[in-house]
Amino acid sequence: MKVLGIESSCDETGVALVEVDGPETPRLLAHALHSQADMHQAYGGVVPELASRDHVRRVIPLLRQVLAEAACDIKAVDRVAYTRGPGLAGALLVGAGVAEALGLALGVPTLGVHHLEGHLLSPFLSDDPPQFPFIALLVSGGHTQLMQVDGVGRYVLLGETIDDAAGEAFDKSAKLLGLGYPGGPALALLAEQGRDDAYALPRPLLHSGRLDFSFAGLKTAVMVRLRALGPDPGERQRADMAASAQAAIVDVLVAKTERALKDSGLQRLVVAGGVGANRRLRSRLDAMAARRGLKVHYPPLALCTDNGAMIALAAAMRLQQGLDPGRRAGPFDVRPRWPLDQI
Ligand code: KG4
Ligand code: ZN
Repeated sequence: MKVLGIESSCDETGVALVEVDGPETPRLLAHALHSQADMHQAYGGVVPELASRDHVRRVIPLLRQVLAEAACDIKAVDRVAYTRGPGLAGALLVGAGVAEALGLALGVPTLGVHHLEGHLLSPFLSDDPPQFPFIALLVSGGHTQLMQVDGVGRYVLLGETIDDAAGEAFDKSAKLLGLGYPGGPALALLAEQGRDDAYALPRPLLHSGRLDFSFAGLKTAVMVRLRALGPDPGERQRADMAASAQAAIVDVLVAKTERALKDSGLQRLVVAGGVGANRRLRSRLDAMAARRGLKVHYPPLALCTDNGAMIALAAAMRLQQGLDPGRRAGPFDVRPRWPLDQI
């Protein structure tokens, strides 16, 4: 069975085709992606209306590209999946509209997929896929969550951020440092030149014993420290600040993840979402896992940030389990806000 996936929840248009046969892990046949980062850069963040319009422009050419790469006729598509939420309402509606129209034209069912379920299952597209159950650290631009994953569709939320997400902390600190949007990769790059103990930045809730996160105070601390450096901080200071901010975020993420693993007694960890591409986070998690004799699974690097492959994959894995995609009131019933444990 061939499942097409369309992602349009934020600032990336993604289309992908996966093949699923029996109980085997679905196979990625082709995927294509367009990032709007350059377009939003001028505004310092995502402009929702521009995002929606760009998805409209990109989605059909990307679809053609995927079908050509997979040497697949559109008539051979058996299911059309799309991101139903969470995300920007107008952006989600583009993917939903195209998917529903395709489903109608081809006479095949459509499936609305939860964006975070896509991230969570994305390591199944790697060469070393995990086995259930596992702990998942989900770190994206909008979410920071620790989940216990017992199987497809069986997700228990263990803890999440009470304010900013880890990606947001990266992006906002980067903005204060005058780096472009999205700030995460740029801040990580600058941090390589700096010392991570140069500034003692807060690590909120580090020893709370709970699995909640709070990152909103970090940007304030970065702002105050930067102000103290005067209007034109030197390159060294900026790099030191980037390294210190990254270290603060990573320390908290690693400590809470270790606690979740300890509390649950589970032996496997999955890291997903855009911040999962961060090299310092990866090396610290790998070191912690090695110390505890645990296994860490990541999606392929190119599939850490938003993409269509994870949406097609999540749909295919739900189909394998015979899971109902959820009742929808109509073809445009998207869910801009949609907690993962409510699917
Ligand atoms: O998962 P994602 O692509 O989109 C959402 O669903 O939000 O995550 C985007 C987030 C942004 O905040 C971006 O700055 C961050 O992931 N990010 C990184 C890195 N690459 C992307 N943060 C730190 N280091 C990176 N290398
Ligand atoms: Zn995402």
